[in-house]
Amino acid sequence: MIGAGYVGLTTAVCLAHLGNEVRCSDIDSDRIQGLSLGSVPIVEDGLTELLKQGLGSGALTFSVDNEWGVENAEFVFLCVPTPQGPEGRANTSIIEQVALEIGPHLAPKAIVVNKSTVPVGSTHIVERALGRYDVRVVSNPEFLREGSAVQDFLHPDRIVIGADDEETAIQLSALFLRLGAPIVVTDPATAETIKYASNAFLATKLSFINAIAALCEAVGADVRQVALGMGYDPRVGSSFLKPGPGWGGSCFPKDVAALIGLAEDAGYDFALLKGVVSVNVAQHARVVEKALRLAGGDVRDKRVALWGLTFKARTDDMRDSPALEIGRHLNELGAIVTAYDPTVRGSLDGLEVVDDPYAACSGASVLVVATEWDEFRWLDFERVGSLMERRAVVDARNLLDLAAMRRAGFAYEGIGIL
Ligand code: UGA
Repeated sequence: MIGAGYVGLTTAVCLAHLGNEVRCSDIDSDRIQGLSLGSVPIVEDGLTELLKQGLGSGALTFSVDNEWGVENAEFVFLCVPTPQGPEGRANTSIIEQVALEIGPHLAPKAIVVNKSTVPVGSTHIVERALGRYDVRVVSNPEFLREGSAVQDFLHPDRIVIGADDEETAIQLSALFLRLGAPIVVTDPATAETIKYASNAFLATKLSFINAIAALCEAVGADVRQVALGMGYDPRVGSSFLKPGPGWGGSCFPKDVAALIGLAEDAGYDFALLKGVVSVNVAQHARVVEKALRLAGGDVRDKRVALWGLTFKARTDDMRDSPALEIGRHLNELGAIVTAYDPTVRGSLDGLEVVDDPYAACSGASVLVVATEWDEFRWLDFERVGSLMERRAVVDARNLLDLAAMRRAGFAYEGIGIL
């Protein structure tokens, strides 16, 4: 396993748990040292337990040395970042660099598995960089959600394998057979497209429900009931229909931008996805407008409390988090933003971060709930109200009990509800 980030680490510990011998390498020596001692650097349910299990049984070992990692390996998983490059295009330089480095050290007939999300055609780029004609390169995109990655790995909806030859696909499938999931075997370009299309479709669903939420506010409907009524239709499905402050995270924004760029390069104008992105940008702005309105029309030199900084609950990941975007906007409008998140400590650019949700509310003209941490629901809102300058809440996750909040004298605005 090359790369011990969210994807690589989860894949490594889960494959070790399934009975394989796994060597995992990463350039970050602190991370590797910690992992060797059983310490997981991210918040991810179940990861620590499986890491300790793997270390204890000896099935899982760590190093900063990629050459050691690939020595005699039957399968080599590439789980390195593909950051957003110019104009949204995915930057594949890290993956190419790693391929160049490991090529000469691979065992004969090794199978290199590309798990990183890469532009269509990258499997062949990796093949060329490896410079080995006895080695096969396969695309095997991951569909793990942060926060439930271990569960998702061990109980997948599907496994996608993109290989140029059937024998290689069969060899790789053997690793996942115990998981009992449908296995889609296809060519590499199709597998790579499945990954982008899946994330883009989910982002589309979210922008759609956020747009319906805006409409609900305009016509006096309740988006929660609309989503419930829509979701019973199995063609629509009830998941991913919760309106929020806009989608974020390390994958959706990057992958949607990459797919738009990829389409453009291939001569197709993906207008639908461009709309999905605009709705998302507008969604951040809508939350800020709500905060402005509830704070009395202006936030200059006023205190604003922000609950939640991560892009969703049950993770400590703040990459492309709507909460940060909203905090930044409010900051630009002159607000003094004080934030609280159960997994975030220390200061952030322009935001004061405190380690207590009540302290964040002290003197605030409005509270914005940006992440759906369950603990926010159970706080003492009488105390929250008594600390605030004004009793006003923008609940961008529709998390709190609307009736109870209004009974407690709060001006309350959710998303798509009256
Ligand atoms: C996403 C996909 O769900 C995974 O299948 C995929 O493997 C992963 O990207 C990836 O490409 O690596 P993740 O980024 O962990 O996983 O986040 P999601 O749980 O999908 O949430 C994405 C965003 O949508 C978050 O900002 C979340 O708050 C928002 N969201 C989600 C909503 O606003 N409403 C919902 O009903 C669901």
